Amino acid sequence: MDKPEVLVVASKLPPFMMDALHAAFRVHDRIHETDPDTFRQVAHRIVGVAANGEAKAPRSLIEQLPALKVISVFGVGYDGIDVQAAKARNVVVGHTPDVLNDDVADLAIGLMLSIARRIPQADRFVREGRWPQGPMPLASKVSGARLGIVGLGRIGGAIARRAEGFGVSIAYHSRHAKPDCPYAYFPSAEALASQVDYLVVITPGGAATRKLIDARVLTALGPKGYLINVARGSVVDEAALVDALARGAIAGAALDVFENEPQVPEALWTMENVVLTPHMASATLQTRRAMADLAFANLQAGIAGQPLRTPVPECR
Ligand code: NAP
Ligand code: 8YV
Repeated sequence: MDKPEVLVVASKLPPFMMDALHAAFRVHDRIHETDPDTFRQVAHRIVGVAANGEAKAPRSLIEQLPALKVISVFGVGYDGIDVQAAKARNVVVGHTPDVLNDDVADLAIGLMLSIARRIPQADRFVREGRWPQGPMPLASKVSGARLGIVGLGRIGGAIARRAEGFGVSIAYHSRHAKPDCPYAYFPSAEALASQVDYLVVITPGGAATRKLIDARVLTALGPKGYLINVARGSVVDEAALVDALARGAIAGAALDVFENEPQVPEALWTMENVVLTPHMASATLQTRRAMADLAFANLQAGIAGQPLRTPVPECR
């Protein structure tokens, strides 16, 4: 029997995920972008789309795939997928929640420590032979500080539990206050920012959170405050952030995600008060394998017409 045909729209699925896809399916790797003629010939046979947190499956693509049954995202965030367009065509969408909570929370804490204690800067200081010329400037203390979390969901909660070990006071902003939650709730990101030293952003991306962290929120965070973004680049007004960093309107930022990845504004490259990582919060071998297993299982189930293990909330 012919293998079911799958379109990969992600640009960097790990080799073990690609191997699993090739073993089970006939895989068309991003041909909608690179080889439109072949894409037109095979589009009517494609039953599954394999995406990731950074990939796009807009309405215009979904509408070109008449046999499509499932879009499986290798990642928890699915802001690149037009879920309403998928649902309108009875296409189910899956993602990989929970299996990456620990890694993303670990990196968020790592970034908070890195920017506060200037760990990458200190590493450069030693490597560049600057130590004999004098001490590093003093850093900022994390233990006992005030932490604000924008988006207290699965990952936000895991960040909070880790932060408790540092004796920080914890507050949060999300659309809804959580019943029985021990942390202080603020009804806006701006109000939260005005009361904390470290503001960690971990909401979904997409239209509802676009530029949620804007110039007003950064002003409220203030010249002693640090921003840590592990959510999506779209959640922060990047131009306002670069401006705030350049003017010292905030003390610093640690960023794993950017508006136009993999492009990072050049202005950030030379700033000493930033730490930059390449969207790697879930990038450990163990977690990426767990994500691959789940994303593959969702793809297989959807193609077989069975319920997905982890459909996105809109498809439950
Ligand atoms: P989740 O459990 O759904 O939590 C999302 C949180 O954001 C909830 O607390 C939600 O609370 C809040 N929220 C949603 N919309 C909001 C809005 N408009 N304003 C304020 N708060 C809002 O999701 P998760 O599993 O923790 O993942 C969160 C996100 O992290 C993902 O969607 C993805 O974008 C990002 N992520 C990034 C990486 C990376 O590599 N850097 C890795 C994994 C995930 P309410 O519904 O009460 O508002
Ligand atoms: C991954 C992510 O970087 O889960 C998400 O939403 O952004 C990350 O875990 C991505 O999905 C893999 O490319």
